[in-house]
Amino acid sequence: MSFDVAVIGSGPGGYVAAIRCAQLGFKTALIERYKTLGGTCLNVGCIPSKALLDSSEHFYNASHTFETHGIKLKNLEVDMPQMIKRKSEVVDQNVQGISFLMKKNKIEVFHGHGSFKDANTILIDGKNELKAKNFIIATGSKPITPAPFNYDKNRVITSTEALNIDKLPKKMVLIGAGVIGLELGSVFLRLGTEVEVVEFTDRILNGMDKDCARELKKVLKKQGMKFHLSHKVTSVKGSKTKATVEFEPVAGGDSQKIEADYCLIAIGRRAYTDNLGLENVGIQTTDRGKIIVDKHLRTSASNIYALGDVIDGAMLAHKAEEEGVFVAEQLAGQKPHIDHNLIPGVVYTWPEVSSVGKTEEQLKEAGTPYKKGKFSYKALGRARASMDTDGLVKVLAHKDTDEVLGVHITGARAADMIMEAVALMEFRATAEDMARICHPHPTYTEAIKEAALAATEDRAIHA
Ligand code: FAD
Ligand code: NAI
Repeated sequence: MSFDVAVIGSGPGGYVAAIRCAQLGFKTALIERYKTLGGTCLNVGCIPSKALLDSSEHFYNASHTFETHGIKLKNLEVDMPQMIKRKSEVVDQNVQGISFLMKKNKIEVFHGHGSFKDANTILIDGKNELKAKNFIIATGSKPITPAPFNYDKNRVITSTEALNIDKLPKKMVLIGAGVIGLELGSVFLRLGTEVEVVEFTDRILNGMDKDCARELKKVLKKQGMKFHLSHKVTSVKGSKTKATVEFEPVAGGDSQKIEADYCLIAIGRRAYTDNLGLENVGIQTTDRGKIIVDKHLRTSASNIYALGDVIDGAMLAHKAEEEGVFVAEQLAGQKPHIDHNLIPGVVYTWPEVSSVGKTEEQLKEAGTPYKKGKFSYKALGRARASMDTDGLVKVLAHKDTDEVLGVHITGARAADMIMEAVALMEFRATAEDMARICHPHPTYTEAIKEAALAATEDRAIHA
């Protein structure tokens, strides 16, 4: 078993790298420890969470907005086993699609845990040796579950277990108001679960635009989500049927206790390099366990590369995919390029939140002079027609050159709308360019045009 390239891990980083390597003529192997391909993203991440977000959104609209639209429904109820079954079918279709792509591209797939023996040899499940000239580590990440939180996979859970709950919980406590907490919290909240969130910092969606995060929090509160910001969890205990969470203000003060059906730990993810044999090839990691790579994504072993969640940067599927193509093309002697500043981020709550480029906080910290334009969804005809008037678009542009430096959106279809900003920023457009492009009416995208107009001499038309 000898290959030009062996990829370890079949998530979006690994399988995309393998396909691009095969396209470029390399004899390629893919090693995956689980039975199905697709990694976190397809099996227990992006795809199943979006399937449940879509299902729960249909239920929420049917129970909360249909009547205003003039649609009456009787005996509406949630069929949780069916919802989970549909989610699993969506996952199956996607993971089978990856197996098909492996066959189509003549990539040899090996199932088992890969571990380096030396810089040209990997052991699969400790026994079968596989040799390759180059390796790509794409082993991804796992949820962080600190020991005092007593993660038991039963009542104290992570996103992985939450995606399979087939009886609607009465109450759920989330630890962490980040992307996973708010997305999965939204799923259960919309279906009727009482959801309380304990978050260490004083805001939700740390790192994203403050105004956009505040707008989302306002809507989630209206939907019934309860927030305990600036609070730290001191103990979590799971029994057979309940989870008990104790927490107190970060600044000190009285502690509180909540009993719930589940406690969902969503406080971030750690790079997954367990039993990978990194010590046998001298690969270094940061103190947080991420594999250290240079700007070519090469590790300290010259024929071994790493990408995706296991290295520094945003833990996002599309970032991993871009890096997969980047490494493969470099191995073929090409000179690919990724602008990590232009990797968009999306939170699939409703309203959605999306973002690309710099936030105001980052621009202030870097001392970059900037101007901003904001536009509210309330003033959009399209938003009134669909009853989606919560939201805003913020455009940040350089004060002197007018180059767009960041775009941040909370609102209906923000996930798809951000692509206009990504494309324009790739071509280094100015806010004036953005404002002068004709946007179809009535669409939510008109808010981007108006925010760009607001950023250039405060000349939004409908403000
Ligand atoms: P992974 O997808 O984690 O894949 C790594 C693979 O390597 C796994 O299959 C693992 O089994 C395998 N592996 C590990 N070690 C070994 C070994 N030693 N031998 C063999 N195989 C091994 N991102 C988005 O962009 N959009 C979203 O909407 C989104 N939603 C998410 C929702 C949830 C609930 C979660 C948890 C994550 C979500 N993410 C989302 C993040 C996204 O899933 C990750 O950023 C992405 O999967 C990272 O890809 P990767 O290829 O680096 O690693
Ligand atoms: P996160 O980093 O988004 O949020 C974690 C939150 O937990 C932070 O707000 C943090 O302040 C808080 N926190 C940390 N320790 C805490 C403690 N002890 N007590 C209370 N709060 C605490 O992490 P999350 O939500 O687990 O997601 C992990 C990653 O998965 C994300 O960084 C994201 O890249 C990826 N993801 C992406 C999605 C998307 O693109 N739509 C969806 C889901 C996950």
